[in-house]
Amino acid sequence: MRLRNDPHACERLELSGNFVQDPQSYKGRWHEYFGNRNPIHIEIGSGKGKFITALAIKNPHINYIAIEKFPTVLLKLIRKIPEQGLSNLAVISIDAELLEEIFTKGEADALYLNFSDPWPKKRHVKRRLTWAGFLGLYEKVLKEGSVIEFKTDNRGLFDFSLEEFENSNFTVKHVTYDLYNSDLLLGNVATEYEEKFHSLGTPINKLVAQLESKKNISSNPENLKMAKEQLNHDL
Ligand SMILES: C[S@@+](CC[C@H](N)C(=O)[O-])C[C@H]1O[C@@H](n2cnc3c(N)ncnc32)[C@H](O)[C@@H]1O
Repeated sequence: MRLRNDPHACERLELSGNFVQDPQSYKGRWHEYFGNRNPIHIEIGSGKGKFITALAIKNPHINYIAIEKFPTVLLKLIRKIPEQGLSNLAVISIDAELLEEIFTKGEADALYLNFSDPWPKKRHVKRRLTWAGFLGLYEKVLKEGSVIEFKTDNRGLFDFSLEEFENSNFTVKHVTYDLYNSDLLLGNVATEYEEKFHSLGTPINKLVAQLESKKNISSNPENLKMAKEQLNHDL
């Protein structure tokens, strides 16, 4: 996402009641920040925030935390918050690598990854937000049974991600290679990137994966098989 770097972005973000300057101080206490014990849903790489602000408006009984590494991008997100404010949205500018510094085990109930940067070069594999290392981090902050929803236009990243999820403690429950012609479209909230790619006719891929307590990876090749069967069906 290319936006001109704004050296005063953090100062401007601090003017917003939704921006959390010191997210580390809420580790294990996010319910105190929100003033309730409602479920917490995280989006990593929120970008300009169309998705998470729409969800926060639609679902007042869910608390949302938008995580984005570039403060300049978050200035666009903040502008989408209605004038009367959104008490169920927290906006944080950190790298996802630091997730464990701001959440304790089981503090979050769901996680969204939307149109994550594909990092196509092999030497950058560890920067992909669905790389095994990141899935391990997500596992450390999510409750058992929580889901990760991942959407992307990038087929290479999607295939890579399916493999990473299959080799993790998450079980892939739903897969589509063409969201706009699938049952998963029901209740879908589009992101900025999604609108752009969908309008160009690019198929959108989506998977939903659930965190299991003790997944026996080696004896569970069924999920990948299911994804491949779905692919043949979709094609
Ligand atoms: C391609 S954009 C997609 C934005 C938005 N989710 C959408 O679908 O329109 C990816 C966003 O993820 C952010 N991002 C990439 N890696 C990140 C990381 N490790 N931690 C936090 N944000 C990250 C980027 O700065 C960028 O804003």
